[in-house]
Amino acid sequence: MFTHTSMITIKGKQFEPFIHHGQIAEKVAALAERINADYAGKNPILIAILNGAFIFAADLVRHLTFDHEIQFAKFSSYQGMDTTGKLTELIGLSSDIKDRDVIVVEDIIDTGTTMYNLLPQLKEKGVKSVEIAVLLMKPGKLKVPLDVKYCAMEIPNEFIVGYGLDYDGVGRNYKSIYVVKE
Ligand code: IMP
Ligand code: MG
Repeated sequence: MFTHTSMITIKGKQFEPFIHHGQIAEKVAALAERINADYAGKNPILIAILNGAFIFAADLVRHLTFDHEIQFAKFSSYQGMDTTGKLTELIGLSSDIKDRDVIVVEDIIDTGTTMYNLLPQLKEKGVKSVEIAVLLMKPGKLKVPLDVKYCAMEIPNEFIVGYGLDYDGVGRNYKSIYVVKE
């Protein structure tokens, strides 16, 4: 637990301690054990989604005991001609993921829209299987059906920063997670 209650300020907004880095480490290790049990003897490709997942991914893979590859990919957002408006495409996948077991590594699932749009793109590329490994979920905000097999922690509908997560680009470096102060 936090032995102090120091708040942080990012771009004029105050955040208070929420999840201590010691607890994050325990939850990441526990999640890795589940993944280790399921993927023993397999050789999956992990796809970590930039920018937010870089710290979670770095900690997670150091607990994994099966052979695997890791790639980093990013969403490019652009206005499409489609009536749905904004389309997002995953860019930066460098090797063929066809017929491979894939684990998408993401920092946080909020409405779920991002992951919901990503899964068909991976299936189109002919992956053998795809699962999601996420550090945090806000179940109260989920607005699409999403099957998330690996989730380290569930949190209420609040905005958080730290451990890779940002507020307006800043705050990813904090070891612990902080929640916006009302
Ligand atoms: P979704 O598509 O609504 O699930 O949004 C997922 C993305 O929103 C994440 O990958 C984050 O980049 C961002 N996000 C959602 N909630 C938070 C938060 O509390 N803090 C920082 N970023 C967040
Ligand atoms: Mg993200």
